[in-house]
Amino acid sequence: MRAIIAGTGGYLPERVLGNDQLAAEYGLDTSDEWIRGRTGIRQRHLAARGETASSMGAAAARQALEQAGIAVDEVDAIIVATTTPDSAFPSTAARVQAAIGARPGLAFDLSAACTGFIYALGMAESLMRSGAARCVLVIGTEIYSRIVDWTDRSTCVLFGDGAGAVVLRASDEEQERGLLSWHLHADGRHADILQVEGGAGSTGGAGLLRMSGREVFRHAVSKLAAVVDQALQANALDRSAVNWLVPHQANLRIIDAMGRKLGLPPERVVVTVDRHANTSAASIPLALAEAARDGRIKQGDLVLMEAIGGGLTWGAALARF
Ligand code: ACO
Repeated sequence: MRAIIAGTGGYLPERVLGNDQLAAEYGLDTSDEWIRGRTGIRQRHLAARGETASSMGAAAARQALEQAGIAVDEVDAIIVATTTPDSAFPSTAARVQAAIGARPGLAFDLSAACTGFIYALGMAESLMRSGAARCVLVIGTEIYSRIVDWTDRSTCVLFGDGAGAVVLRASDEEQERGLLSWHLHADGRHADILQVEGGAGSTGGAGLLRMSGREVFRHAVSKLAAVVDQALQANALDRSAVNWLVPHQANLRIIDAMGRKLGLPPERVVVTVDRHANTSAASIPLALAEAARDGRIKQGDLVLMEAIGGGLTWGAALARF
């Protein structure tokens, strides 16, 4: 059995805010020069009042199904990677299921912060291998504008809202295509360097994101390099086999470092962080959808995905489109 990536989709809220606009609107002591120089971010999309993780996720899912040419009643499982769910329960996945009119089946949310989409790919493939599902919607959807501290310039400038989705279809014939392998890690000893304080089960805190950027940066470079090597070695592939790097979009400096490590020219690295900022679990499926739609990623291409986020969690996945 191979989990084939049959379609991709994305959704971005209509409202776009450039760096200078953001600084002015939120009264932040920052500048386009600082944000762009440290992160590569030029602008971000911000959700409207009525939008939620499930409404954005449903929009991305519909587009992925349409692109795959798969009818909604073929979907038998939905996994939503999110750390900004509509509510503690029902899950965002159950809400998406109802919103797109999928038949009752398996649906659940998964929390692995910015690594959520890679985790969800791995869990989807496991479900498919076990025989529990043949067609899985894997969605990453986030509204970080609701959990950032808009008075903390060191974090609020980094994030944006959006959703991305892929449809995985089980195939017993196509052995060359599909998800080749996934590699997941977590180390909870580093929980406090990137976290959302508070929440329904906590004893305090305001439910806002806190990050020691420099610490996260240090872990990012070494852990992502190691997990990328792990993915290539597991498939006995040389880095030259990789056609596209589709990294989590947190910071252009980290993305560039990973591209250099793989010896990939910049045009083989899919970058959206400049326009989307960091959309956490949505960033990889949004980047996949963009590069598939504009014809960069073609059938047969080998795509390497990698991410690191709160937990700490980190991981990589290799797929042949
Ligand atoms: N505008 C202007 N100045 C700022 C801003 C801002 N928006 N933010 C911070 N500064 C100042 C700081 O106050 C500090 O000033 P000081 O030297 O006078 O104290 C100075 O800039 C340097 O701050 P640092 O935090 O050390 O800046 P750094 O070079 O580390 O860049 C950044 C910060 C961009 C956050 C970087 O550390 C980074 O990208 N880290 C990785 C983040 C990441 O990858 N996260 C991934 C996962 S996210 C998730 O899982 C949800």
